[in-house]
Amino acid sequence: MNKIENLLLPLIREAGKIMTGAREIEDTVSEKGGDSANMVTVYDVAVQNFLMQEISKIIPDAFFFAEEKENNAEDLMRDHCFVIDPIDGTTNFVHDYRYSCISVAMFSKGDVKFAAVYDPYADEMFSAVKGGGAFLNGEPMKVSDRDMAHSIVAFGTCPHMKKKMGEQSFRLAYALYSECSDVRRPGAAALDIAHLAAGRNDIFFELLLSPWDFAAGSLLVKEAGGIITNSGGEKIDFSAPSPVFAANPKVWSRFFEIVKNTIDI
Ligand code: IPD
Ligand code: CA
Ligand code: CA
Repeated sequence: MNKIENLLLPLIREAGKIMTGAREIEDTVSEKGGDSANMVTVYDVAVQNFLMQEISKIIPDAFFFAEEKENNAEDLMRDHCFVIDPIDGTTNFVHDYRYSCISVAMFSKGDVKFAAVYDPYADEMFSAVKGGGAFLNGEPMKVSDRDMAHSIVAFGTCPHMKKKMGEQSFRLAYALYSECSDVRRPGAAALDIAHLAAGRNDIFFELLLSPWDFAAGSLLVKEAGGIITNSGGEKIDFSAPSPVFAANPKVWSRFFEIVKNTIDI
């Protein structure tokens, strides 16, 4: 039988063409819950439908836990459950900012077994199979070995929860900014985490993300030798929204000390 990644990765690349072929994107936007910072386009739905349809052909008993549908967290305990963010970085996508991705994680009995984050603009596929290492376009990748002074911190601003999380997010970014090389707010959490796994940035945080934002990234980071946890420094619970903190092992303890000294979540 073909390895699961040989079956899934071509499908995810194919889905990327829906993003790169998209036109007049702004005309297709709906605001979720009337929030101008929380958008969905017809292309988000098209990518999700394509992946669900094609994955079901390969794995007929597959369940899906995906952003643009109703979900049941108990499905993560099934033999095959795919956690999908069809377009992570929808705001970037709508602005033609060209920093968005597709994120797919395959769970088996509550554990992530396969992960892929695909950037269709750069044609970069970040992938991992549990216990098998992490790869960028098929080449092994690992987290960086930079110290704090030479680190780049990528962070997310919780744009859908500005009132609750905005001030603390920028407070933590500022505290880190004082010790690291510089900070970035690229705009697609799953891709930011994949870039950490590839050693391009060294620290990532966002104070609240949904499972489809971090499920694939968590396996990428672990298989690339990095650390990723919730606010207690523990394994993240995939069944609900969670804060996400990730870093290379060299900067981890200082990073997490700054987190604890700066914010209260
Ligand atoms: C968002 C992006 C963004 C992050 C938000 C996410 P979406 O996902 O990952 O970078 O700051 O918290 O919700 O809505 O574009 O899939
Ligand atoms: Ca997302
Ligand atoms: Ca999304």
